[in-house]
Amino acid sequence: MLESHDNQHPEDSSPEKRDQASGLRTMTRQGPVKVIAVTGAKGGVGKTNVSVNLAACFAELGNQVMLMDADLGLANVDVLLGLHANYDLRHVISGERTLEEIIIDGPRGIKIVPAASGVSRMAELSNAEHVGLIRAFSELALPVDVLLVDTAAGISDSVVSFSKAAQEVLVVVCDEPTSITDAYALIKVLSRDHGVERFHILANMVKDKVQGEQLFSKISRVAERFLDVSLLYLGAVPFDEQLRKSVQRQVAVVESAPRSKASRAFHRVAEQVNNWPMPDAASGKLEFFVERLLYAGDYGGGNTEGFG
Ligand SMILES: Nc1ncnc2c1ncn2[C@@H]1O[C@H](COP(=O)(O)OP(=O)(O)O)[C@@H](O)[C@H]1O
Ligand SMILES: [Mg+2]
Repeated sequence: MLESHDNQHPEDSSPEKRDQASGLRTMTRQGPVKVIAVTGAKGGVGKTNVSVNLAACFAELGNQVMLMDADLGLANVDVLLGLHANYDLRHVISGERTLEEIIIDGPRGIKIVPAASGVSRMAELSNAEHVGLIRAFSELALPVDVLLVDTAAGISDSVVSFSKAAQEVLVVVCDEPTSITDAYALIKVLSRDHGVERFHILANMVKDKVQGEQLFSKISRVAERFLDVSLLYLGAVPFDEQLRKSVQRQVAVVESAPRSKASRAFHRVAEQVNNWPMPDAASGKLEFFVERLLYAGDYGGGNTEGFG
């Protein structure tokens, strides 16, 4: 398990490096970051729990983890973890706070970026605000290996932008008709209008392994027939009372009940995701993710309907 880490980067503070970075370009401190958007369209399917618990598992596997809370729902990341965010990305955009100042520490050294109310107006930001936000991320003095984005319910501009900007899209579904149709609608919009081709399906709240597999084949059969996508099965997280209890206690279940069925499943999923290839150094940096996020509307040649 990872304890707190040193935030200083001696290699970045050399005079040589600083000289190189001065001038027009801002200093880039980050290496490539694996960005994963956790989606599912329907509220209550477990997106926030999946985000928080996978984040904790990734940290345990030795990664520096950042978790961006882009969900305006009731149980935000900070609520689930018993933390309180006073500020969010809105305050970074307005210049009232630096990115470092809004980041809160979660369990196992996870860095949480409260984005929630900031993301709702991403589409309306001015050019100067875009530049400021990209710079804030490029100058961030925290190492990040994995960025998980807990997206909102529905298929809003913000959900589309985050999914498009991420390298991988994880779709959380449970075995209810509304969850299945919502997940399908999300996959359809992202693939047909925005060029996203690959989706990782995570079945949540299933009663056993078989139900998870059946749920996956229900979705993939339809999606692969009617859409130009590839759906990959990431596995299942069982319905687990321990998870409910941990939500009430405001701790991640992998922390409060590490031996529970849900926790063991989260660890299995995290290990699989941990083996996904890293993005290449050139395009994988955090500031490029933010850039893609901000310009998602006029990016990639897809349909740009709904973007301001
Ligand atoms: N694997 C699970 N087992 C039992 N209950 C679950 C599980 N996943 C989610 N839940 C329940 O569903 C609720 C909603 O989960 P949440 O992660 O907040 O969903 P979302 O972010 O998609 O709205 C949780 O508070 C919890 O009670
Ligand atoms: Mg949520």
